Amino acid sequence: MPPARRRRSVFIIANPVPVSERQHAPVSPALIELVVNGQRHWLAAAPERTLLEILREDLALTGTKHGCELGECGLCTVLVQGQPRLACLTLAVEVDGEAVTTVEGLASAHGLHPLQRAFLHLSAAQCGYCTPAMLLTAKALLDANPAPSREETRQALAGTLCRCTGYGRIVEAVQRAAADLTGRP
Ligand code: FES
Ligand code: FES
Repeated sequence: MPPARRRRSVFIIANPVPVSERQHAPVSPALIELVVNGQRHWLAAAPERTLLEILREDLALTGTKHGCELGECGLCTVLVQGQPRLACLTLAVEVDGEAVTTVEGLASAHGLHPLQRAFLHLSAAQCGYCTPAMLLTAKALLDANPAPSREETRQALAGTLCRCTGYGRIVEAVQRAAADLTGRP
């Protein structure tokens, strides 16, 4: 007796879209709302555009630095709803409606933020490329923990790479700012 033949399933797709057309099908930008440094913006954002691109290219906020774009250097850190976030790994559409703080929003009408003053006075920046991310990460730390230990400060900043300073002065500056903000000597 001959072996039974296996039945093959055949699926027919009605009017299939050619692969070439599928890859190049245009996707409409979404209209998103961002509150950046207290200012409200409505922006057309294509789904693949990152928050880093929107900040630097559309809003000209170039204080947010473009580093590895792989989530490894931390240099693109901004605050979203007060929490540190890697702008290179965040799609703009993901943060629709949320509040974003960049380094440009750190100073106020009264002058530099105490963190900025401490970085300045203690020479905690050399090339300055990491400084915006350091300042914002430190701000989130001090907002949550007004008197962090040196070790807690080091841990909070560990995800932001600095190739110049060796971190000693940065940690010292954050400690100085913490003292200033809480009125400690
Ligand atoms: S650019 Fe390096 S983590 Fe975003
Ligand atoms: S000061 Fe140059 S990378 Fe940090």
